Amino acid sequence: MCGIVGYVGGQSALDVVIAGLRRLEYRGYDSAGVAVLSDGSMAAAKKAGKLVNLEKELDGRPLPTGSAGIGHTRWATHGGPTDANAHPHLDNAGRVAVVHNGIIENFAPLRAELAERGHTLESETDTEVVSHLLAEEFSSCGDLAEAMRLVCRRLEGAFTLVAVHADQPDVVVGARRNSPLVVGVGEGEAFLASDVAAFIAHTRSAIELGQDQVVELRRDGVTVTDFDGAPADVRSYHVDWDASAAEKGGYDYFMLKEIAEQPKAVADTLLGRIDGGGSLRLDELRIPDAVLREAHKVVIVACGTAFHAGLIAKYAIEHWTRVPCEVELASEFRYRDPILDQRTLVIAISQSGETMDTLMALRHARAQGARVLAVCNTNGSTIPRESDGVLYTHAGPEVAVASTKAFLTQLVAVYLLALYLGQVRGTKWGDEIRSVVRDLARIADDVDRVLETMEPVRELARSLADKDTVLFLGRHVGYPVALEGALKLKELAYMHAEGFAAGELKHGPIALIEEDLPVVVVVPSPRGRSVLHDKIVSNIQEIRARGARTIVIAEEGDEAVTPYADHLIRIPATPVLLQPMVSTVPLQVFACELATARGNEVDQPRNLAKSVTVE
Ligand code: F6R
Repeated sequence: MCGIVGYVGGQSALDVVIAGLRRLEYRGYDSAGVAVLSDGSMAAAKKAGKLVNLEKELDGRPLPTGSAGIGHTRWATHGGPTDANAHPHLDNAGRVAVVHNGIIENFAPLRAELAERGHTLESETDTEVVSHLLAEEFSSCGDLAEAMRLVCRRLEGAFTLVAVHADQPDVVVGARRNSPLVVGVGEGEAFLASDVAAFIAHTRSAIELGQDQVVELRRDGVTVTDFDGAPADVRSYHVDWDASAAEKGGYDYFMLKEIAEQPKAVADTLLGRIDGGGSLRLDELRIPDAVLREAHKVVIVACGTAFHAGLIAKYAIEHWTRVPCEVELASEFRYRDPILDQRTLVIAISQSGETMDTLMALRHARAQGARVLAVCNTNGSTIPRESDGVLYTHAGPEVAVASTKAFLTQLVAVYLLALYLGQVRGTKWGDEIRSVVRDLARIADDVDRVLETMEPVRELARSLADKDTVLFLGRHVGYPVALEGALKLKELAYMHAEGFAAGELKHGPIALIEEDLPVVVVVPSPRGRSVLHDKIVSNIQEIRARGARTIVIAEEGDEAVTPYADHLIRIPATPVLLQPMVSTVPLQVFACELATARGNEVDQPRNLAKSVTVE
């Protein structure tokens, strides 16, 4: 949560920072602010609401362009979304400016201490203490990086901080504990940001910052130390996507673009996974095959949409490898004392690689001796860095808050992992593995076909814009799809939406059915486990008899459902376990269109942020 940008170099710092914030607004949109250094003085502006409010303010009251600057886009934690609580926060003399992402847990005693020493704090935020502490330390040491190290040693919690001081006009300093911060290195300029998207238009050369590190940016270089001032090891990497990947590319919303990118994202995630000998090859995995062979349990931890990918993974892992698999919400996992040991393989699924609940769950698992493998879309992020191994998805940057292409690629990744486990444990033959990989490759085209037939789904969504509730039912791998469909609708359309296992219907949820209530039913393939198919056809009849308006998602050629479907959405036939790859897509389109019809902000739904970097 919160987007941070810092810049020093020959361009207008104000312009670079504002352009960077535009790319990071998905991280929070409660307020935005900037500070720039020019001719030994500091100028700042901040405004509640979206970035556009700040831009209007700057039109009326321009700031100097400057050669160093910082900026922030906020997702409020401490203090409401007001001008006063917007970042940057300055000290009383207006010489230091600070932006922050995370939570400083001991801010209350620090605030009291500062008040006793005569400081006046003007906001309700935890962040403001940092600008005052930095001002104090700077007055004795005269160096912002050193002041930052001294202050960080006193802070508790999760934080990324970026600061400038008017007395050091060519320096920007950042610090990182738990929350993301990446360095961009250009020619005679340097950048700091929560996400490479903020500087990708200027440089693709990046440095990953580690835990408890302080970075000093100057035009001619970057210095990284730990909080005690010792030089730190850092990893440099090349960002393998360009600025156009972070643009809307002619679509009205990022979400529409990202839905449309799914066939490519799926194909990219599959690329190069089979070696010359016909075996599955997962290069980045880093966990020895012997460890995977020995594992006696798999535990998947994740949040939100990634959790739904985990639920689907369980069906594939248990079916293909016969290894027991548990799936747990990361936020619940570590607080219930889970049973883990060195033979437990924990899989942490996260698009951003920064979700705090998932990060804390993986740290807990490693502390208990378990091996942790990350499935992640963001190179250089914390979760893969702190895991024993990683399998990267290749969805490219996902900007819309609602996850779409990341979900499909997470499915590809977990199917590959399940197959790989089957390969090293000998529960799957090579030809079986290659056949599933071929099926997955074909599904990229199937997703394309689904996308071409979405106009009736959009029309249906528009016709339901005044409804209050939509229910979703599924069985087997269709159950997590129902949960995902409901989550998308909640977060985008702000409607009451719930997903149920269809078998649970008669244990309670059927009481919700009333005349004309829309119920989406994800029907399993009639081939494969046909008993499941027959049962869900009965479920559809049961709810229809009670007045539900049935919206049925079923395979092409499945005629058994036709008489009971008020609306029929056809998807291509796929192998049973892979069906979520196609059945999820209409639900994404449905939620996106309903949100638009209800006049909601598709890319930036209310109260949400893309990366949840606080617990
Ligand atoms: C829903 C959504 C969220 C994320 C969740 C985990 O559309 O985007 O539920 O899936 O916050 O995020 P990552 O995958 O970044 O850990």
